[in-house]
Amino acid sequence: MTQEPQPKVLFSRKEINVAVKRLAKAITADYLGKHPVIISILKGSFVFTADLIRLLDFPLEVEFIRLSSYGKEKESSGKIDLIQGLHIPIKGREVLVVEDIVDTGRTLTYLLDYLRHMEPATLRLCALTDKPSRRQVPVKIDYLGFTVPNKFIVGYGIDWDEKYRHLPNICVIEEELSE
Ligand code: PRP
Repeated sequence: MTQEPQPKVLFSRKEINVAVKRLAKAITADYLGKHPVIISILKGSFVFTADLIRLLDFPLEVEFIRLSSYGKEKESSGKIDLIQGLHIPIKGREVLVVEDIVDTGRTLTYLLDYLRHMEPATLRLCALTDKPSRRQVPVKIDYLGFTVPNKFIVGYGIDWDEKYRHLPNICVIEEELSE
């Protein structure tokens, strides 16, 4: 049987809490009284979204979109599948997308275009992690938790072949990815 790689802690639960609080504070300053729609991108951002929204003490709505770009591979396939789209109108609404990781940028570019066609009043992005070394398409991140190295990131909702999403820390799998 092949041995599974052992994840090493990159950001502890404590460090994540500090970052999520910082993001919630910045988001509160911008959205208080604006009744935004928070759109969480499944599956990777479900843990982050759950922690973040519980720190936002003002009226908001939460919606989910499910996209997939990795399939069962460790690196993005480049082909984005919209598994579950948005089923509410967002025309004229303040929209904040919550994502777990921006890697090549292809998923977010696809998603932000998809949402822009629905004519929201504003459209911003909150990302837990950013891996700029892998970027192929530029993406503007309005609220960022952590910049991460070019290693495979797992835990706190993020998977490797559907494993490790349940880890409480953000971890790395010690394996260099191709540039
Ligand atoms: C991951 C992540 C982002 C995307 C980032 O999703 O959640 O949506 O890949 O990669 P990119 O910047 O190279 O496009 P994934 O397709 O693994 O689905 P999941 O969230 O269900 O794990």
